[in-house]
Amino acid sequence: CMGVNGLEKVILTEVRGFSAEVYLYGGQVTSWKNEHREELLFLSNKAIFKPPKAIRGGIPICFPQFSNHGSLEQHGFARNRFWTEDLDPPPFATNTTNKAFIDLILKNSEEDSKIWPHRYEFRLRITLGPGGDLMLTSRIRNTNTDGKSFTFTFAYHTYFSVTDISEVRVEGLETLDYLDNLKNRERFTEQGDAITFESEVDKVYLSTPTKIAILDHERKRTFVLRKDGLPDAVVWNPWDKKAKALSDFGDDEYKHMLCIEAACVEKPITLKPGEEWKGRQEISAVPSSYCSGQ
Ligand code: BG6
Repeated sequence: CMGVNGLEKVILTEVRGFSAEVYLYGGQVTSWKNEHREELLFLSNKAIFKPPKAIRGGIPICFPQFSNHGSLEQHGFARNRFWTEDLDPPPFATNTTNKAFIDLILKNSEEDSKIWPHRYEFRLRITLGPGGDLMLTSRIRNTNTDGKSFTFTFAYHTYFSVTDISEVRVEGLETLDYLDNLKNRERFTEQGDAITFESEVDKVYLSTPTKIAILDHERKRTFVLRKDGLPDAVVWNPWDKKAKALSDFGDDEYKHMLCIEAACVEKPITLKPGEEWKGRQEISAVPSSYCSGQ
């Protein structure tokens, strides 16, 4: 159906009331709601739904470059291209029984070949499970016919909605090494307990466990992020000063969001012609009490 500014969107629904919205522009999830119709992802009130601007919030796809680690535009181009529905996807290993899902595809265009001279097929399956969990599976294939390999970095730039950032804790990243984007990507080791927030943060945690928990104490909700094929995890909150510098982000909105991104940043992926890479992120939201002791 029609989204903001006439951009096409698809709504996935589930019998208990869970839902998700996906824009073909960016192949981007912009909404994920639980059975009480509560929004679980952050989408800025100032988000601009107009190409070439990427939509601020939801789950933008960073490909073929994460951040400014390379010569392409920040976070690559997948997040501001028009994807199409993949009506004839090759079989996926994931079981889709009782699940709402959509298959999208992005391929190299002539225009993009000038900035990234490769042929590829990027298939993205977005699945809403019967328990409301949201799964994104990416399969990227090198379809070059000139024998050339290509290399890329990647992230599911997930904006979680939180009640109050200063009451949020992230578990699963403690004691890990990270690259600090605010300190010239220097490498540090996380000290101490679970991660909490009191100022701007922009870090890439390296080789993390496959499960990360985001605890929203105020709302007594825990998000659980599981990932596969994506060794790193980015943690980003712009805080007050950086927020003011972003034209499509409200001055106080940093209090109500946290980006935790399943990513592959430190060691880029290289694919030879004919090779395929797969990376998956699954998120679920549960009342906090359900998580204790796990
Ligand atoms: C994060 C990066 O993933 O995305 C940050 O680590 C960046 O450095 C942020 O500022 C937002 O990027 P953008 O391009 O969407 O404003």
